[in-house]
Amino acid sequence: MPYKIKVSALLRSHTCGELRAEHIGEEVTLGGWVDTHRDHKGVLFIDLRDRYGKTQVVFAPESGQETVSVGRALRSEDVISVTGKVAPRPEDTENPDLATGQIEVRVREVKVLNRSKVPPMKPSAKEQPSEDLRLRYRYLDLRRPEMQKTLILRHRIMKLMRDYFDELGFIDIETPILGRSTPEGARDYLVPSRVQPGTFYALPQSPQLYKQILMIAGYDRYVQIARCFRDEDLRADRQPEFTQLDLEMAFVQADDIMAVIDGLVARMAKQLLGIELALPLPRMTYDEAMERFGHDAPDLRFGMELVDVSDLAKEAEFRVFRDTAEQGGRVRGINAKGAAERYSRKGIDELTNYVTGDFGAKGLAWFKVGDGRRLASPIAKNFSDELLARIAERMDAESGDLLLLVADKWEITCKALNGLRRRLGAELGLYQPGQMHFSWVVEFPMFEYDEEEGGWAAMHHPFTSPRPQDLELLPDQPAKCRAQAYDLVINGFEAGGGTIRIHDQKLQSQVFQLLGIDTETAAERFGFLLDALQFGAPPHGGIALGLDRLVMLFGGLDNIRDCIAFPKTQRATDLMTGAPGEVDKKQLRELGVKISKE
Ligand code: AMO
Ligand code: AMP
Repeated sequence: MPYKIKVSALLRSHTCGELRAEHIGEEVTLGGWVDTHRDHKGVLFIDLRDRYGKTQVVFAPESGQETVSVGRALRSEDVISVTGKVAPRPEDTENPDLATGQIEVRVREVKVLNRSKVPPMKPSAKEQPSEDLRLRYRYLDLRRPEMQKTLILRHRIMKLMRDYFDELGFIDIETPILGRSTPEGARDYLVPSRVQPGTFYALPQSPQLYKQILMIAGYDRYVQIARCFRDEDLRADRQPEFTQLDLEMAFVQADDIMAVIDGLVARMAKQLLGIELALPLPRMTYDEAMERFGHDAPDLRFGMELVDVSDLAKEAEFRVFRDTAEQGGRVRGINAKGAAERYSRKGIDELTNYVTGDFGAKGLAWFKVGDGRRLASPIAKNFSDELLARIAERMDAESGDLLLLVADKWEITCKALNGLRRRLGAELGLYQPGQMHFSWVVEFPMFEYDEEEGGWAAMHHPFTSPRPQDLELLPDQPAKCRAQAYDLVINGFEAGGGTIRIHDQKLQSQVFQLLGIDTETAAERFGFLLDALQFGAPPHGGIALGLDRLVMLFGGLDNIRDCIAFPKTQRATDLMTGAPGEVDKKQLRELGVKISKE
């Protein structure tokens, strides 16, 4: 990329990624970091690096003795500026892997701008150190070309989003960081108020309520790249502080929101990956996703769908199957095509430990498929030949396949088989690197039963509107009530989620009641929204996409920490700054906060 800003040519005239054969003969000045350093028969070669690339600079006898001795004393990550002529590399020493590989700079003058201590990691080393070390010395880690590539991709995505929504007439509006608790289902990060001791702001879990208020205020197309904060258990795809592409529209239905996102995703796929997407993106209902894949964000890059054999299990002598099926549980399985040889007894034991350990399954039944569709397994003796043949047929078994089955409560079969399916998809290479699949999952349940707390909880959030045809189910059959909700799914990740909202105050109160939020609590926490709904609230809805996850997916990475310049660890700490840290007693006193010892 050309370096177009006019700057003092004293420190650099070109970047380290810029020089080509056409510059041969020019005198240039480069600034950068010492990457590698080779002394070859009295001639010193240094790769000078900046974020644009690397250029070989050469200290030879004609550079002068003093310059050569300065060069010789340079060490990794010293910052220097060199001036000299661009020269062709001697024949056979060109480097086709390097954009600047045809040339080198013959150093006439060198300035040491700053020294580096011996770095605990080298940005261009092939093997990278532990993630803890990378996070502690993030400034060194961020010098790595891979990290630069990801942060530039992140910038590209944000720019593309802003352009896209600007073209569609959306207005970018900022919403407060210091606010009231917003109900997205996670714990809040709280900030004590000094001016009103004993009271707290909550950092937003999302701008949900503000964007609904903006619709009521008449800003019918709102967008924001918004920071969100959620104190929840962290995983590879979750950070306590993350970024959403957040939007809301008035006078729309679910289809309109999905069409807007379809357009965005298609543009991203085209411009960033060169992939032409067919629109509209495919849709699947929540029920179908759970039945066919056991998960509400299925990885559709490959098949291996769940197959139900509960009816057949009822006829089996095998107690685990028969009892489960008779007691209303389910027996479901997947067919790992051609994988019988691949998994030995030990390999299957590992899969068994995986489903029992990680997903609470009680076991994993398996059959290897031999010639003539014969099913072989230590448990085969508990099934009649006729029943085995029907299982084989139901599961589309062919010689060489491995059938894996779980008998349990419906939820456990979903969790275990989804986990197994994802693991086998990766292990058996059922999708290509770089392959992408985009789809929608729609018609989520309005509520899920919260076993721990007892009572119904909102599956998305309490402002979600039921489908009009399900309104009558609301009072008596909340479990059957479906929401006007849609999730964007990419490669098995939930990349975004949204809903059409309730714009009727009475319906909103009814939903709060169902959720066990009494009138007083509702008034105290969301009174402003309930009030606003009575001053001409238009029909509205929206969605938020996880920006960090999008960068991860479009960058082909498997961890969102690599998509964030300064991320937190799994324990929500920042290893570079040491946050969270203790504070002065005086500060605590001013805030009226006391730390209890327990
Ligand atoms: P939701 O809670 O589904 O919806 O969040 C939207 C998207 O944000 C991403 N996301 C996260 N990314 C990284 N770390 C996290 N801890 C994290 N949590 C969520 C996911 C998710 O799909 N206000 C609603 C949106 C709406 O209804 O308009 C909301 O926040 O990709
Ligand atoms: P057991 O009768 O417990 O020795 O189990 C015999 C086989 O059935 C083992 O391979 C178990 O992993 C498997 N198994 C046990 N419980 C289940 C279950 N709930 N679902 C599927 N397979 C099971």
